Amino acid sequence: MLQIAVGSDRSAATLHTIEAPQPTARAGELLIKAAYAGVNRPDILQRQGAYPPPPEASPVLGLEVSGQVAALGADVSGWQVGDNVCALTPGGGYAEWCTTPAGQALALPRGLSLEQAASLPENWFTVWANLVIHGRLRAGECVLVHGGSSGIGVAATQLARLIGARCIVTVGSEAKARFCREFSSVEAIDYRSEDFVARTRELTQGEGVDLVLDMVGGDYIPRNLGVLRRDGRLVLIALQRGAKAEVDFGTVMRNRLVITGSTMRPRSIAEKTAIRDALLHEVWPALGEGRVRTHVHAVFPLNDAARAHQVMESGEFFGKLLLQMP
Ligand SMILES: NC(=O)c1ccc[n+]([C@@H]2O[C@H](COP(=O)([O-])OP(=O)(O)OC[C@H]3O[C@@H](n4cnc5c(N)ncnc54)[C@H](OP(=O)(O)O)[C@@H]3O)[C@@H](O)[C@H]2O)c1
Repeated sequence: MLQIAVGSDRSAATLHTIEAPQPTARAGELLIKAAYAGVNRPDILQRQGAYPPPPEASPVLGLEVSGQVAALGADVSGWQVGDNVCALTPGGGYAEWCTTPAGQALALPRGLSLEQAASLPENWFTVWANLVIHGRLRAGECVLVHGGSSGIGVAATQLARLIGARCIVTVGSEAKARFCREFSSVEAIDYRSEDFVARTRELTQGEGVDLVLDMVGGDYIPRNLGVLRRDGRLVLIALQRGAKAEVDFGTVMRNRLVITGSTMRPRSIAEKTAIRDALLHEVWPALGEGRVRTHVHAVFPLNDAARAHQVMESGEFFGKLLLQMP
């Protein structure tokens, strides 16, 4: 089968296809004949050598796929060969065939194509974990989502609206602001032309927000704390501007703030299965009814994975980038 390999200097341009043996489903796993794979920012970090895969995982890039179940490992029930699925994978998604624990696979939401379904797992598992489990977002609250036009940002925005929360996003251009306003009906702040702290306070009549979902980190951390109202939560999911910050913990005490964060990949299969079950119950019906949407910006053939990574690195896209298998 064909899969993607990373060249010696680890740049996007060095991504290339190689022939490799087809994996086999171990106990508890599905073998999936992939149709599409999602491209995610963590893939860029892994390609660069900054985000090594967990020891048990495939070293091949790719955290999500859609396709058809081709074989069941021992002790797998509830799936049949030929079923259409999308799945969070432990790695190995940039390949024609991949395996994943059966508890990380989901049937397609009603009416969605395999292409659309490939855009869902990594982002929706992540935003569910961070907005609902760690962030405890509730109806009537207000959340600030940084990177509102990213794959994660679009899913977070859609989930916030599904929960019944007000959502404000930050983005790096007016085109991205327009996309977020039109696609997700949210308030958007262009952080390059406006101070997001002042603008968020203005949009909330000085009250601030209940939750910040942050993928920026660094100097954003104290600024995020400055837009949280009493009992607010800061949930960190990436540290693009650094892992260190100077924080006034007086603000944390006075406003009873919670600072937390998480990563998806190292979670146990049981934890991922519990998130899968929650998504099937709470989000998949809404996707099927069109109350929640996903946005695929572009689809690249597998042998053009280099271009997909270059586009992701350019930041010139909205929502998701996918790879299509031959
Ligand atoms: N913790 C986890 O479990 C987990 C799981 C998946 C992904 N992630 C992380 O979540 C982030 C989004 O992932 P993705 O796959 O959706 O990637 P993506 O589409 O490439 O999004 C990255 C986003 O970061 C934004 N950004 C960069 N600097 C910013 C700044 N100073 N202020 C506001 N936004 C800024 C960019 O927005 P602009 O272009 O508008 O600046 C861009 O939309 C990545 O950092 C990824 O590593 C974490």
